[in-house]
Order: sequence, then structure tokens, then C-alpha cells
Amino acid sequence: MEIIRTVARLDELSAKARSEGMTIGLVPTMGALHAGHISLVDRARRENDIVIVSVFVNPTQFNNAADLATYPRTEEADCALLEGAGVDYVFIPTVEEIYPEPDTRTFDLGPVADVMEGPMRPGHFNGVAQIVSKLFMWSHPVRAYFGEKDFQQIAVIRRMADITGMDDIDIVSCPIKRADDGLALSSRNVRLSAEQRAVAPGINRILTESKGLMADGADVATVRNFVVEAINALPFMTVEYFAVVDGRTMQPVDSWADSDYVAGCITVYCGDVRLIDNVIYKRPEGV
Ligand code: PAF
Repeated sequence: MEIIRTVARLDELSAKARSEGMTIGLVPTMGALHAGHISLVDRARRENDIVIVSVFVNPTQFNNAADLATYPRTEEADCALLEGAGVDYVFIPTVEEIYPEPDTRTFDLGPVADVMEGPMRPGHFNGVAQIVSKLFMWSHPVRAYFGEKDFQQIAVIRRMADITGMDDIDIVSCPIKRADDGLALSSRNVRLSAEQRAVAPGINRILTESKGLMADGADVATVRNFVVEAINALPFMTVEYFAVVDGRTMQPVDSWADSDYVAGCITVYCGDVRLIDNVIYKRPEGV
């Protein structure tokens, strides 16, 4: 596995691989890697000739300086995991390498970015679009892999790819990886105290129960209220939002019949740790 620190080297190896007819799979990450990331890498490994993983804590997508400062950075452990997973190249640039000057681009991300995380984290999705568009331009992947935990992010990245003419890149959405007790794996989980960690699986438990309610005939509003009240009743937990949305447009649905693809997206503060998760109520075949 080669560790790359410069854009020039990334550009060069990508051009060479493409000239040799090799397919490139890209897995963008912010490091602090866990089994969720490795499941993306494994899939990229199976589907491409060359696997590139980027590890970069992207400052432009943080709208909270404390969150950026405390974001875990574990380069050595990350590289060991990636080497073990058979990655060909890991791209670990500095902030100056990525942003030699400020990135002033504003992306027209449209309605998918106007809801949920959009208003809660102003500028966040524009920052994601900035970094992912650069990674796409430099590495030219055939496929790029993202975890479905960040459900809305995938829709935003698809939109970014559309409006920048990079829609030939296949954006592959991969299932959430969970701990045995159901908590969605996240780099932020290490910040939970032992007591909070013990309660946190309640989020997935309640989301799963809400699917049962839906199957028993409850309407969207009833399911929504159930989730918010049940999670808020858990110790340490405060729901920031829970939205039942169309899985493509991210717009709220009022009735299960409104779409063939319906997801419930939640963010919850567990103490001061912001956790994100989702449940898919309806999913069309093949999506
Ligand atoms: O999901 C993440 O880890 C980040 O938002 C991403 C896609 C790597 C961009 O920095």
C-alpha cells in the first residue's frame, strides 16, 4: 500500500491506471476508521482493479470549531487497517495541499440539501461537495463508496456529481454497519461515556420498533411521534430532528403512499455527542 500525500501523485497514478484500462474505486473518509469503513473498502476491493482511500478531516464541512478540533485523528491505526484490507493507495493530504487557497465555490445543491442536516449545519453540505468534487476530479474513480448512515449526504453527493458533469461516476450506497447491540458504527462513538454507550443502542431499537408500528398500520405522524417521544425518554438523549422523507428527494412525506422509497432520518444528542442514524420504511427493489 502506498501512502500518497500530494495531489500531483494522486493525479498521476489515476491517469496511469486509466490509461491501462484499470477501474478505480474511491472510498472517501475522514479517518478514525472502523468496521463500517472497512465494509466500504471490502466492496470497493471486490468491484474494482484499484482501490484508493482518502483520509482527510475536511475543515470546510465543519460548522463547529470544537467539533473539528476534537474529531479523532488516528493515522497510524487507519493505515494498518487499510493495509490489512488490501487497499492499493491511501491519500492523506494536509489542509494546505487540498486548499492552497480558500475554496470559494458555492454549489447549487437544490432541495436535497435544504432539509434536515442542511439548516442544522449551515455550510456543511457545501463543504462536503467541495472536498468530494476535488477527490473525484483528481482520482477519476469509476465508483465511489459511501455509507448509508449519512443518508442525506449520498443524495447531496449525487446532486453535486450531476451539476458538475461527473455523473458518470457510480455513487455506491452501502448498508449501515452496526455493533452487535445495534448502534450504528461511527467515529464519534468513542466520545460516548460508558453509561451513554450503554443507552445509545436504544436509537436503533426504537427505529426498528417503529417499522413494526408502520407494518401494523400506524400513519406517518403516529410513527414520527412514537420515535421522538420514545428516544427522548431515554437517559442522556435529546432528539434534534426526526424526519420521514422520500429516499430520493429528501422531502418530508405525510403518507406512506407518497413514495415507493421512504426513510426515517434522525439525529440525537447523547450528552454532547451528536449521533445520526436512519431506518428504511420502504425501499424499491435494486435501490
Ligand atoms: O462522510 C464522511 O466521512 C465525509 O463527509 C466525507 C464524505 C469523507 C467528505 O469529507
